Amino acid sequence: MRMVAKEVLFKILGYMHKKQIHDLIEKVLKDLGISQMPSFSVSYPPEAKFGDYTTNAALIAAKILKKAPMEIGEKIVSSIKYQVSSMGKKGIIRKIEVAPPGFINFTLKPEVIQKNLANILKQKDKYGSSKAGKGKVVVIDYSQPNIAKRMHVGHLRSTIIGQAIYDIYKLEGYKIKGVNHIGDWGTHFGKLIYAYKNFIDKKALKENFIQEMNRLYVDFNARAKEDEKLNDYAREETKKFQEGGKENVKIWKYFVRESMKEFDRIYKIIGVKIDYTLGESFYQPMLKGVISEALEKGIAIHSQGAVIIPLDKYNLPPFMIRKTDGATLYGTTDLAAVKYRVNKWKADKIIYVVANEQAGHFQQLFKAGELMGYIKGGIAEHVKFGMVLGADGKKFSTREGKVILLEDLLGEAIGRARKIVEEKNPKLSNREKEKIAKAVGIGAIKYNDLSQNRLTDITFNWDRMLDFRGNSAPYLQYAYARIKSILRKSKASKGFKLDSKLLKNEKELAVLRQLAIFDEIIERAGQERMPNIIADYIYKLANSFNAFYENVPVLGAEKDVRFARLGLISGVAIVIKNGLKLLGIETLERM
Ligand code: ARG
Repeated sequence: MRMVAKEVLFKILGYMHKKQIHDLIEKVLKDLGISQMPSFSVSYPPEAKFGDYTTNAALIAAKILKKAPMEIGEKIVSSIKYQVSSMGKKGIIRKIEVAPPGFINFTLKPEVIQKNLANILKQKDKYGSSKAGKGKVVVIDYSQPNIAKRMHVGHLRSTIIGQAIYDIYKLEGYKIKGVNHIGDWGTHFGKLIYAYKNFIDKKALKENFIQEMNRLYVDFNARAKEDEKLNDYAREETKKFQEGGKENVKIWKYFVRESMKEFDRIYKIIGVKIDYTLGESFYQPMLKGVISEALEKGIAIHSQGAVIIPLDKYNLPPFMIRKTDGATLYGTTDLAAVKYRVNKWKADKIIYVVANEQAGHFQQLFKAGELMGYIKGGIAEHVKFGMVLGADGKKFSTREGKVILLEDLLGEAIGRARKIVEEKNPKLSNREKEKIAKAVGIGAIKYNDLSQNRLTDITFNWDRMLDFRGNSAPYLQYAYARIKSILRKSKASKGFKLDSKLLKNEKELAVLRQLAIFDEIIERAGQERMPNIIADYIYKLANSFNAFYENVPVLGAEKDVRFARLGLISGVAIVIKNGLKLLGIETLERM
C-alpha cells in the first residue's frame, strides 16, 4: 500500500475540514484499486458518540468491489490508521471505527478543536471569513419592487434572502454587485400618466403617494371597462413617454422619485442598502441593438408581426422580445441586462432572487441568453422562494382581507417586541427599550424568513417568531446577551490567559466541535444559496451553549478553568454574532 501524502494529514491538523478527510479517503480508495472515483460523502454524525465525521465511502466502495461493506470498511480504516500512526504526534485523528452496516466514523483529537478556540478569539469579527471567492464577480439581482406600486411581502422576502446571500459571498471574498432591478418601465405607465392627468386626488396623493397611485390604477381599469377609448388614450401617453415627450417624462420621473422615497424608508427600517439601483428603464437604449442582434444571428424570428426566440427544441414556450405593436417587454430588458452584466461587469455568476412563480420566465431567459452567447451554462441562476402565508395557512392579509402594507408589518413587529421588552425589563430607559424592540422585531421577521428552507411557503406566526424560548431571533439574541452579561460580571475584558486544553468534558467538547465547523457551514450555505443552513447552525450552537452553561459552572470554577470556560463562551458569542450578522440580524450587549 502506498503512503498517503503527508501534506494531507498536515492540512487536517490546521483546518479540520471535512474536505481534507475526503481527500484522505480518496487516496486510500485509489490504493484499493478503485480508479473511477465514486461520489461518497463526509458529513457530521447525528450523535456525538459517532465522532466528529462520518463517511459512507466503504458502503459505496464495497458495491464497486463486490465485497462486504464491513470488510472494505476495515481495510480503509487500517490503511488510515497506519498512515496516522506514522505521523506520530502530528496525527489528528484519535479514533477511527467502522460501524455497521459500514459507516466509518472519525473522532479527532481534542486538541484539534481546542486549538481552534484561540483562533476565534484572535480573529473576532473576521472569524468565518475566507478568500474562497477571490477574483470572482457575483451579481445579485434582488428586492426589485415596482414603481408606483406597493412593495409587497414577496419583495421583502427577496430583499432579506438576497441580502443574506450577498453577505455570505462577501465574507467569502467574492467581488459582489447587488442590483435593485426596479420595475420602472412598461405600458402600464401610459395608464398611470393618463389617470394622473385626469382623475388624480391631489390631497390623497400628498398623504400617501403609493396608496393613491394604487387606487388610481384600479380606478383607471374600472373606467376603461366602461369606456374603451381610455385604453387608446393610455397607449398614446405611453408612446409619448417612451419617445421622450418632456411632460410625460417629467411625470414619470416624479413617480420614480416618490416611490423610491417609500422604498428607501423600508430599506432603512430593515437595514438594507443595495449597491446599484438600475431599473428596467436603464436598459432601454440597448434594446433595439439586442433585438437586431438576435435577428441577425438567426436566433430570433419574425412571427405574426412580433419578434420571438423559438425555444421548442428545449421544451420551452417562445421568448417574445418585441410585440406586434413594436413595444418591448420585461424579458427584452432582462436579456439586455444579462449582456450588460456579463460584458460590462464581467460577472462569473448572476443570481436572481425572485419568487417561484417566475421560474418559467427565467428558464426562457437563461436559454435565450445562452443562445445569444452571453452566458455559458450555469452562470445564471434563479434562486427561488415560496410565498408568505398567514398563521392560518391562507393568503397573508389583514383581518378585513386587505393586503398588508410592509411598513405596517414592520411597525407591528417592533411594537410587539416593545411590549415584550416592557414586560421583561421595565427598568430600562426608553431609548434602550426602543433599540432592543427594533433589533428584536426586525430580527424576528428576518429570522422567520431565513431559518426556513426558502423554497417552501412560509407562515407569519407572531407568537412563534417572538418566542424567547423557541427557534427564533430573540432566543439567539438572548443567548448572546446572556454571555455578554456573564463576561461583564467576570471582568474578563481585563484579559486572561487561555489554556484551552482544560476544556475537555463532553459538554465543552460539544460546543468546541460546533464552533470549529463555522466556516464549513458558511461555505455550504453559499454553495447551496441556503441561508437556513446558517440559521440552523446558530440555533444548534446556542442550544449546546445552554446545555453547557446549565451543567458546568463558569464563574464559580477555579481560576484557570474559569478562564478557559470564559474563553469558550466568548468564542460562542463571537460566532453567534458573526452568524446572525450574515442573516442581517443585530445582536445586543444587553436585553
Ligand atoms: N419587478 C419584478 C416583480 O416585481 C421582479 C424583477 C426580478 N428581476 C429581474 N431581473 N427580472 O415581479
